[in-house]
Amino acid sequence: MTMRAALYRGVPRMEVEDLPVPSPSAGEVLVKVAGCGICHTDLHYLDHGVPTFKKPPLVLGHEISGTVESWGEEVSDWEEGDRVLLPAVTSCGTCSYCASGRSNICARMKMFGNDVDGGYAEYVVAPAREIYPLPDSIPLIEGSVIADAVSTPWHAVNNRAKIQKGEEVVVYGVGGVGINVVQCAVAAGARVTAVDIDASKLEKAKELGATETICAPQGESAHKEVKRITGGGAHCAIEAIGRADTIQSAFSSVRRGGRLVVLGYTHEKVPLPMGKLMYHEMSVVGTLGCGGGDYPEIIRAVAEGELALGPIVSGQIPLEKINEGFDLLRAGEGLRWVVIP
Ligand code: APR
Ligand code: ZN
Repeated sequence: MTMRAALYRGVPRMEVEDLPVPSPSAGEVLVKVAGCGICHTDLHYLDHGVPTFKKPPLVLGHEISGTVESWGEEVSDWEEGDRVLLPAVTSCGTCSYCASGRSNICARMKMFGNDVDGGYAEYVVAPAREIYPLPDSIPLIEGSVIADAVSTPWHAVNNRAKIQKGEEVVVYGVGGVGINVVQCAVAAGARVTAVDIDASKLEKAKELGATETICAPQGESAHKEVKRITGGGAHCAIEAIGRADTIQSAFSSVRRGGRLVVLGYTHEKVPLPMGKLMYHEMSVVGTLGCGGGDYPEIIRAVAEGELALGPIVSGQIPLEKINEGFDLLRAGEGLRWVVIP
């Protein structure tokens, strides 16, 4: 049997081709893909020379929802047609990180569309013990973006920033990732200020619960405005852009005893004032993805309306037009596009 799949061959434009449908090994299920979210991470491979772990040709895509089609040996808990969400990254379940509840930094983690073939295809195989049921109340195609676009911010807000009710939180960058940091922080009971250079993104942040917005050309002096708005600085700043200057501004926007959570990726070295860190007992922490164990709780929060998918999904792109979908991302249009095979 063959399937349609977008193949990444190491160049910016993918080719939609016929490939053999993969067959699930022991402990694996074959999932018929319903939707796969288009993420910025893929642009790092396509446009910026970041290598994938599996050498091209490779099927990209790591925000996958679908239905169970078939399974290999030793799989008993799934039935044909079950609606499922695949985590962006799967873990080994046995290393010291997995054993201590930090499977998101598993020593042997595998990412869809990076280490193994991903979801820009009609079918994908996944480990049976690490896929999660999606209730009927969550639309199957839109639900795909829970993996990564929602789960990464959820982990950042709840496990790393540990946002408490009533705290002042500032989010730097409210694009595809940051907008969901806003949602998750609001759901956690924070009062949220959003910083961006794009007024339309800030409008969306307001729609999703941000109380204040700061339109900051190149992020300069945004921290002074944050200090004014929050009466002395935020309890926590979360940077979701990945720029040296905005990471520094985010650090400056935090009050005594506060914390900076770095979610945006940069390969640059970013100087921060260690004297202030020491003297004001500040913390700087990183955050990466989200462990599979948190998915049931995130799915529940979406199902019960604590987190919204509608406003963050901009539209659907047929698999055959996947390159046009990526052009939309390159142009900064919309928040999250979903490829449907
Ligand atoms: N100051 C303020 N906001 C900025 C600035 C700046 N100097 N530069 C860009 N932004 C805003 C953009 O306007 C946009 O709204 O940051 C947002 C970035 O959002 P996206 O481009 O949608 O990127 P996203 O997918 O959210 O990823 C952000 O998180 O996971 C990482 O690798 C990812 O580093 C990237 C970051
Ligand atoms: Zn592990």
